[in-house]
Amino acid sequence: MEENAEIYRPSPVVVEAANIKEYNQLYKYSVENREDFWAEQAEKLFWHKRWDKVLDDSRKPFYKWFVGAKTNIISNAIDRHLATATRNKLAIIWEGEPGDVRTFSYHALNREVSQMANILKAMGVQKGHIVTIYMPQVPEQVFAMLACAKIGAAHSVVYGGFSHEALAERINDAKSRVVLTADGGFRRGKPTQLKEIVNKALEHTPTVEVCITVRRTGQETFMENDRDYWLHDLKALPIASPRCETEVMDAEDMLFLLYTSGSTGKPKGLVHTHGGYQVYTSTTHRMAFDIKDEDRFWCAADPGWITGHSYITYAPLINGSTIFLYEGAPNHPYPDRWWKMVEKYGINILYTSPTAIRGLMRFGESWPKKHDLSGLRLLGSVGEPINPEAWKWYHRLVGGGNCPIIDTWWQTETGGFMICPLPITPLKPGSATRPFFGNEIAVVDDHGVEVQPGHEGNLVIKNPWPGMARTIFNDPERFRKTYWERFESQGWYHPGDSAKMDKDGYFWIIGRSDDVLKVSGYRLGTAEVESALVGHPAVAEAAAIGLPHELKGNSIHCFVLLKTGAAPSRALEDELKKQVADQLGAIARPEEVHFVESLPKTRSGKIMRRVLRAQALGQDLGDISTLEE
Ligand code: WT7
Repeated sequence: MEENAEIYRPSPVVVEAANIKEYNQLYKYSVENREDFWAEQAEKLFWHKRWDKVLDDSRKPFYKWFVGAKTNIISNAIDRHLATATRNKLAIIWEGEPGDVRTFSYHALNREVSQMANILKAMGVQKGHIVTIYMPQVPEQVFAMLACAKIGAAHSVVYGGFSHEALAERINDAKSRVVLTADGGFRRGKPTQLKEIVNKALEHTPTVEVCITVRRTGQETFMENDRDYWLHDLKALPIASPRCETEVMDAEDMLFLLYTSGSTGKPKGLVHTHGGYQVYTSTTHRMAFDIKDEDRFWCAADPGWITGHSYITYAPLINGSTIFLYEGAPNHPYPDRWWKMVEKYGINILYTSPTAIRGLMRFGESWPKKHDLSGLRLLGSVGEPINPEAWKWYHRLVGGGNCPIIDTWWQTETGGFMICPLPITPLKPGSATRPFFGNEIAVVDDHGVEVQPGHEGNLVIKNPWPGMARTIFNDPERFRKTYWERFESQGWYHPGDSAKMDKDGYFWIIGRSDDVLKVSGYRLGTAEVESALVGHPAVAEAAAIGLPHELKGNSIHCFVLLKTGAAPSRALEDELKKQVADQLGAIARPEEVHFVESLPKTRSGKIMRRVLRAQALGQDLGDISTLEE
């Protein structure tokens, strides 16, 4: 934490334009009248039937919001716009990496989504089914999510960078009958081989009967009879009518499940629902990003992560914004690709990650300086703590010193922003500032006692909020244990982050306090990396830790104990790195693999990663009284 952090006050222009001009009073009202506050936000949306009760907390921690209400997030994200001037406004501007452009008005979006919805229905998808989506960043990825929601099926989007093993595991957990994919996408000038990965995954997924493929790159791919269909062929059939009724759902019906890493090997499918999620995401987006009718909003995440679900697909469409989507690499063909597009399309709000900013920073100041970025009004950051150096570069070179940086702390589990500034909030580089409305957040010790300002502790959220995940798919007990057991008597949510709060009530996130790593903003479990390593015939035991990395924030370092008979070598090191990358995806590739003679363990046999980390960083080993030897 920067004890004497500089304070950046918003310029008079920003304050003048802001929809919300005062935080403290509204915050006080929102936490003292939480249900009223959220009911007032919910009233801004369309409901097929109003709720009987805002919050049902009778079965903690399995909270329910807007109980009794009938809705569908699509009624708000698309349908209601068709009756207003928004109908002919652009919903999506998409640019492919090769430079091709496609645009869709809300009217056109509705036709695309309806066609896909009808195709899914014709393929036997029904309300309550889970459809897996594994796609590159093409508009069809967004259409596919919206089409599922429209017919009451849940989607499970698997990030297109994941391996076939990871994809198969997620398809099997969700028991999907239908998978949507593409032949590939363009990345750094080359087509990716997405359908090939799907073909491999589908060798191990007994429930899959249908796979629909979008043609993007035109590559040849194996198409299995009676299983594989090209989307463009289906769209030409009478089944694909561009008119489709939106299914009326209960507020608490599942909208999607999204897998994320935890401290054990098995990824967890977090469940989000139609009602509360639409209220929470649209409110946080509208207030924190101060959304205006004419805004062009670019969230440069992949739709396959929660950031893309909440702030590419759902919240901006509910708020009737124009979203911008880009398919490829930020530095292709040159490191000013992003800045060129910001200028070309007149982007007003750019929301990205510290890792992306650091990546573009290393090419120097000349690239953003080539472009007129004065259309930008606000900038955003998410995924990991932003180092003040990257913050200042982003602020000065991208924002021209005029754009507040909305640093948003949240998680897959929270659905939307939990700690973030408003445009009017005085900023301290590296702090996500204050809680969003309705949330009481604190830093406590292991007994739940609030620590002094400036001291490190566990971040906790003391209240339910409408966007919260409802459970882990098929494993409610794991949900209770992972997030609610630690501070059970208090009834607080435990996100697994350590943090400090300063004397002004600003939060400074330090990082994960559990066995989860953030590498380039991606979330990985140490256990997943370790089990990939142990899967290699030469490996007896393995431990993975994160160490600070200039570009990635953290990088993965592995400590490996070989089986007798196996010998350490450069070749084996490379083989092990490849093993992890193949099994989990390229993002999980270890920075280094160290061969060791033993691993530090507790007497009960648990690997003490904390000790490995301290050793690697040359720090004091801390309390090692439980160490085996
Ligand atoms: C973890 C959640 C929320 C969408 C992307 C990540 C870290 C996230 C920030 C931030 C400091 C942050 C936390 C959190 N994190 N945003 N603004 N400042 N840390 O979602 O993959 O579920 O990861 O990301 O450690 O627990 P996720």
